[in-house]
Amino acid sequence: MRIYFDYNATTPLLPAVADAMAKASIELYGNASSVHYFGQQSKAAIDVARSSVSALIGGDPSELVFTGGGTESDNFAIRGAAEALEPTKRRHLIASAIEHEAVLNTFKALAKRGWKTTLLDVDQSGILSPDQLKKAITDDTALVSVMHANNEIGTIQPIAELAAIAHQHGALMHTDAVQSVGKIPVDVRALGVDLLSLSAHKFNGPKGVGALWVKRGTRLQTIQTGGKHERGRRAGTENVAGIVGMGVAAKLAAEKLSSEATRVGALRDRLEEGILRAVTGTAINGARMSRVPNTTNISFDRIEAESLLIALDLEGVAVSTGSACSSGTLEPSHVLKAMGFPPHRTQNSLRFSLGVFSTQEEVDRVVEILPRLVEKLRSLSKKVATAS
Ligand SMILES: Cc1ncc(COP(=O)(O)O)c(C=O)c1O
Repeated sequence: MRIYFDYNATTPLLPAVADAMAKASIELYGNASSVHYFGQQSKAAIDVARSSVSALIGGDPSELVFTGGGTESDNFAIRGAAEALEPTKRRHLIASAIEHEAVLNTFKALAKRGWKTTLLDVDQSGILSPDQLKKAITDDTALVSVMHANNEIGTIQPIAELAAIAHQHGALMHTDAVQSVGKIPVDVRALGVDLLSLSAHKFNGPKGVGALWVKRGTRLQTIQTGGKHERGRRAGTENVAGIVGMGVAAKLAAEKLSSEATRVGALRDRLEEGILRAVTGTAINGARMSRVPNTTNISFDRIEAESLLIALDLEGVAVSTGSACSSGTLEPSHVLKAMGFPPHRTQNSLRFSLGVFSTQEEVDRVVEILPRLVEKLRSLSKKVATAS
């Protein structure tokens, strides 16, 4: 029995998405910019997808730009805003310290080019307090970028409050909603943001396709220059099959949002309670309430997270130590570090993230095998400690 509990890294395609993509790959080969029938068929399919994806986040289709995924959307939002605001005196960017590398490394690149950047730590529950932002923001701040839901611990940030503070100071507000879209209701107007990133492969769509929602009137410099695709905002012949897949995934996610959140949330709670009960020295990282329903991040005392990850993998269970980009390394989690956890606690945590194909049987199997694996690893490390 193979169990996949790594939905925050990526999700499997839904069969209806795969079918729509296969059909589009074969039938919709026209270039969406071409004026002839074949081109217009592709353009029409992109428009349908644009409406479905916009509906999922409460935006207007004309405000949505398709991209090559969440990383590109984050780059576009941050670099595009920074470049657009370069002529003004605003030279300061703010993000939370728990952002994905797509944001953190873009900030690093801009810092090298003379931008002043501030990364705000979060509290012990993994939430950025609006007061922290109030203290850091100045009238030189061009952009505030804070993720909606965190990929490692699942905590949901108070984006609407943060956006109001950003706007009081004349700054733009971007949110990376890659881990919230498709899991909880996301409404760009209620969040009050100017820019919102999303990625298809996090809600059972294809990899390498995403979108950036750009509020009408937002100053944003095009990063990828070339033809006039996407209303001149993102050049390059459109990935029709990928976009069609994202559209179908968005439609299905919207239809099942509430029932799936309840179902997956109950499974996650069962897993969490089961692990806390069956394994001694365990604790949940991050707020339990303000959290996406599919994610739990658990610390295991006296355990090296990577060793437990490998032990679970040998038993057929796939989990993660944090963001996929940094797994496989022994780097401590930058998220748990920013929450103020001591070093041992930043290296002993596993993320379990569930999704559409997760079942109670799988949850029960993981709860059944974990105590034995943890016990074995703990006794091994005890032996090594006594021998050395
Ligand atoms: C919060 C967050 N932002 C951005 C990304 C990058 O998205 P993509 O894989 O589509 O480039 C990820 C993916 O792990 C993520 O979790």
